[in-house]
Order: sequence, then C-alpha cells, then structure tokens
Amino acid sequence: MKRVWLGLIIVIFFGLMSSCAGTRAIMQTAPSTPKKTQQARPEITASTQDQWGNQNTKVARQFQAHIYGDIPAIKGPARVDSIRPIAKDAFNNSANIFEWTMSTRGDIDPFTIVILMPANIVPGETPPIILTQNFCPNHNVIPIAGISKPKNSGFSCDSDGAMSDVFGYFFGRYIMTPPVEMIMNRGYALAVVYPPDFVADNAQTAAPQLARLSNKDNPAGAIMAWAWQASRIVDSLEKSGEFGDIIAYGHSRYGKSALVAAAFDPRIDGVIAHQSGTGGASLSRNKPGETIKLITEGYPHWFTPKYAEYGDDQSALPVDQHQLLALIAPRPIMLGNAKRDVWSDPEGAFHAAMGANPAYALYGSEGLTATKLTEFKPEDDIAFWMRPGTHGVVTEDWPAFLDFLDAHFK
Ligand code: GCU
Repeated sequence: MKRVWLGLIIVIFFGLMSSCAGTRAIMQTAPSTPKKTQQARPEITASTQDQWGNQNTKVARQFQAHIYGDIPAIKGPARVDSIRPIAKDAFNNSANIFEWTMSTRGDIDPFTIVILMPANIVPGETPPIILTQNFCPNHNVIPIAGISKPKNSGFSCDSDGAMSDVFGYFFGRYIMTPPVEMIMNRGYALAVVYPPDFVADNAQTAAPQLARLSNKDNPAGAIMAWAWQASRIVDSLEKSGEFGDIIAYGHSRYGKSALVAAAFDPRIDGVIAHQSGTGGASLSRNKPGETIKLITEGYPHWFTPKYAEYGDDQSALPVDQHQLLALIAPRPIMLGNAKRDVWSDPEGAFHAAMGANPAYALYGSEGLTATKLTEFKPEDDIAFWMRPGTHGVVTEDWPAFLDFLDAHFK
C-alpha cells in the first residue's frame, strides 16, 4: 500500500512539474552537439564590414524598432558628481573601494556605482575594468560598511543574510557577490551597479521612468535603458583615464542588457553574457523554454510593445539574435550556459554564435571555432561555455570568465 501512495505522489509531482513551461525546461538538458538543422535566420550575407560592428545600420535600427525600443533620446555624456573613498585594502588586502555618484542629463535621478581597484597595481597602470550589472543592490554585492543603499530598491537581498542564503542556494555561490579577491588578483578592476535603482524592474514603476528617458513613440524598454545606463557609466570610466579595456558583464536579464550595451556602444571592448537567453544570445526562432510570448507576458516592460506581436509567429521578426552578436563584431564575446538551463536555451545561443561567424570573418576573425557546446575555447572571439547544472552563477563560472578575459585583455 505504501508503495502505491509513493508511486501516486511521484506521478502527481512530475505531473505538476511538467504542466508549467518553466519547470518542464528544468527537467530537460541541452545537447552537447548542436543539431545540424537549426540555422540562424535571417542569414548574414553582408559583404561589407560597415553593416556589422557598426551601430548606425538598418539592423541596429530594426532591433530598436522590433525588440528593445529606441535608444534614450537624452544626449550628452554623464558626469561624476562626487567620489567617496569607502575602504582601503579590503577583501584580504586586494581591493581599494570607492563610490561614485553619477548623474546624466534630463530629469533623471543620480545613481551610485561602486568601483573596486586592484590594490597592487603600479601607479599609472590602467587595469581593464569589468562593468557588472547586478541583481542585488550595491551594498549587498559588496558587503562593506559605508556603501549607499538604493533609493528605489524593488528587490532586497538583506534580511540578515537569510534572503542571500536562499538566493545563493538556488542560484549559486556567486549570484550576489562575485569572487572579488580572485578578480582583483588577476588584475581587473570592477564597477558594480544596480540597474533597478535607475529604471525599476517592475512594469508599473518603470513606465514613467522609461517615458522620461525617451519622449518618443517607441520608448526604450528596461533592457535598453539599463544598456544605456551602462553606456553612461562608460562615459565616466573613459573620462577618468584610470582604466584600460571595458568589459560588460551580466547574468540573465543583465546578460541581455550587457549584449545590447555592447551592440550599441563601440567603446565596450568585450562582453560576458551569462545565460542571457531569450532577447539575449539565444535565437528567437524555434526557441524551446522561454518563448517571445512567455517573456513579453512575464516582463512586458523589458521590451518595446511591438516585440509581443511576434509571440505567435517568431519567423515574422525581421531580425534574430545572431545579428545582435554580429553588431558586436569583431569584439570578444563569451556566452555562458548551463546544461540544464533549457529555459535560456544553450543550443539556440550556440546556433546564434555560429550564425554571427560571417560578420566576424569580415574582420578576419574566426569567431566561434568550437563544434560542440561543451568545448570551451577561451581564446575564441566568440567563446562558448557550458557547464553542468542549472541557472545561476556557480563556483566554476568565474574562473572560466577570467580565462576568457586573460585570453583577450591581458
Ligand atoms: C526569468 C526570465 C528570463 C531572465 C531571468 C533572469 O527567468 O524568464 O528571461 O533571463 O528571469 O533574469 O534571471
């Protein structure tokens, strides 16, 4: 009798699990070898460089019109209003920490970013800097006294560590705080930013903020706005003269914004887009896991409303995500993935990388040379990383990110 009950419970459990698209995706795994049949469309046939690696092209405009909304209309660089030293020789003597308060033109609230400088750099040296957009507010990401709390937090990671433990349990050791000491010791500076403090990650609160930024018929969605915020930070990083190459890093929704930032801002020298999925590196056509319909129902404020019109027919979309990667050519991109993260779709990201190769070839770069999703070649200009496990930033991810950075920026 006991066995019958147990069997029944298992059947009900799996029945419930498979009734929802998200949990169904967790039960699947991405293949190690890509299927030959899935091809990136529309194919990249451009024969001149100026159509790729260039932001003023028809394709760049199509991405704005059909997916992300227009680049915010506010012109002019951002500025740093104040710099506050926070700590010296923190994280085991590896980092000097500062907080910058920044403002942009227009009726936009100032925001803060935290800068971590490797403590052991030689004066005059300009380390490459990794610009990280994060899920948790800055004071949680860098848990050091003195860092400002966000004004408009929609999402707290405080709760005396309880929330962060839960967060870490499900989404990996580095979901909140990256391995700062390891990053500093490898010679990279960090800029830490919490995008919802700029534009909220919530449809209602974001609407007036997005309208203020754009003043247009096709206002920026939150992903475009966060990408634009990254560009404004680049204004000030460049102006400071303290840093070398600038790499945009983001996980998941911020992997999407890191790619969009690099696609529209040629001053970003490289990208690490970890599990960026739908609206990020994975092709929209034939997408398993999260479809355009699901993402635009769940997160309507991330995109222009037009994107939802392709929910029932992705093939009508005039662009696909391999072309977003192509806009970044020939700059190095690392695409992070996990075998059990079919919601994001590693295979679709691999096909997007293959689809972007012709644009890289125009610059004499081979782009992606891996032939399997499990083949990590950090020196490739499109490096593909797939580890076992699920969605999150886990112990083995950052060493791989740093290997990619060392291969391109040392
Ligand atoms: C949701 C969403 C994804 C997104 C992810 C994240 O799962 O469906 O598109 O990438 O959140 O940002 O963690």
